Amino acid sequence: MAKVKLKFPKNFLWGAASSAYQTEGNNINSDWWVWERSINRLAMLKAQGKNSEEYFSGEACDFYNRYDEDFSLASHLSHNAIRIGIEWARIEPQEGVFDESVFQHYEQILQSAKYHGLQIFLTLHHYTNPLWFAKKGGFLKKENLAYFVDYAHHAVERLGQYVDFWVTVNEPELYATQGFAVGIFPPGIKGILPPFRVVNNLIEAHKQISGFIKIHANKPVSMAFNLLDFQPSGFLGELAVRLVRYIINGYIMVRVIDYCDYIGVNYYFHHHLSIFGVRKRSLHDHERTDRGWGIHPEGLERVLLSLKRFNKPVYILENGLADAKDQKREKYIKDHLYFVHRAIEQGVEVKGYLYWSLTDNFEWEEGFWPRFGLIEIDRSSLLRRKVRFSAIKYAEICRDNSFDYDVV
Ligand code: BGC
Repeated sequence: MAKVKLKFPKNFLWGAASSAYQTEGNNINSDWWVWERSINRLAMLKAQGKNSEEYFSGEACDFYNRYDEDFSLASHLSHNAIRIGIEWARIEPQEGVFDESVFQHYEQILQSAKYHGLQIFLTLHHYTNPLWFAKKGGFLKKENLAYFVDYAHHAVERLGQYVDFWVTVNEPELYATQGFAVGIFPPGIKGILPPFRVVNNLIEAHKQISGFIKIHANKPVSMAFNLLDFQPSGFLGELAVRLVRYIINGYIMVRVIDYCDYIGVNYYFHHHLSIFGVRKRSLHDHERTDRGWGIHPEGLERVLLSLKRFNKPVYILENGLADAKDQKREKYIKDHLYFVHRAIEQGVEVKGYLYWSLTDNFEWEEGFWPRFGLIEIDRSSLLRRKVRFSAIKYAEICRDNSFDYDVV
């Protein structure tokens, strides 16, 4: 084992990420809120023997009111950046009715982030929609795009002065598959063509919105791309990898890259593929998260290197694990950062790393049990925030812009 000092580039952004719906609480005009209470979902939870009470977002982390406390903690943890979202369903609860008081509240949230010295990545769409938009068919219909673009225009005009980086859409392919192919997100469709339609519409929306941002806010814009690492396994595995890599990672990226100023990367997954499909357990998984996801930091280096040809700055907008006992988080972060550093040394312009997530939050179909936070939310004690040990170790890295790593 050898110790190496890993230094990150000057002005590197360090912080954590979250989304509006998962943290704010009480987003009652959203399609997710209604989905949580839908007969289908309740029946699904019952069939799985789960207590549905634990699967309602409810007040979530009450971030909508406790943002200042959370930003203050982030700043004490030496973060200099944060990724948050805004909730379209709050801003435009009814078609064409924009709630000025909500914009004012979001202004306060963004001002607070600035006050605490955090650069802001702001996400416009992270899986959720206003109910009225969902009822019209949402992103399945091309003619509905105008509604989303209109909301984005309002948001850019009203909030643009505070935002340093825009994120138009979070993980379009995941949103499309979960909601329109697998059916575990609203609207619960299990189809083959619908996810493609949704992805294509989101690509179009991104293009239109990024053009508007260019003119009216002149700040960098990207999607948050969910990039997976695929490695070949067995006979014709390389062929399988090329095909799947293109469909999952490439299809969207190639279409929107000219409309992105930077590349926003979410990295969680690695799979070994053969022509017979995904190997259940990857050959090289050392550890698993509480959600059962294999931990594979090496994959992040490969993902980053694959972006080199686009010649654009890269920001890691999500990378993290569910680890309620906080036994693996420190190592997880350091291992991933080691491979980020290797990618930087090989010429990839990585300029920031945002851990997912700042606090524990509402993990969609899994409710509250997966604990991704640097900061624990004690749900039995008024949502009290408790800084985890790993958060303090991560804070040292953020503060020093470097850390000592044991290379095995
Ligand atoms: C999503 C988050 C989610 C995280 C962990 C990401 O793909 O953007 O909303 O909480 O994964 O599951």
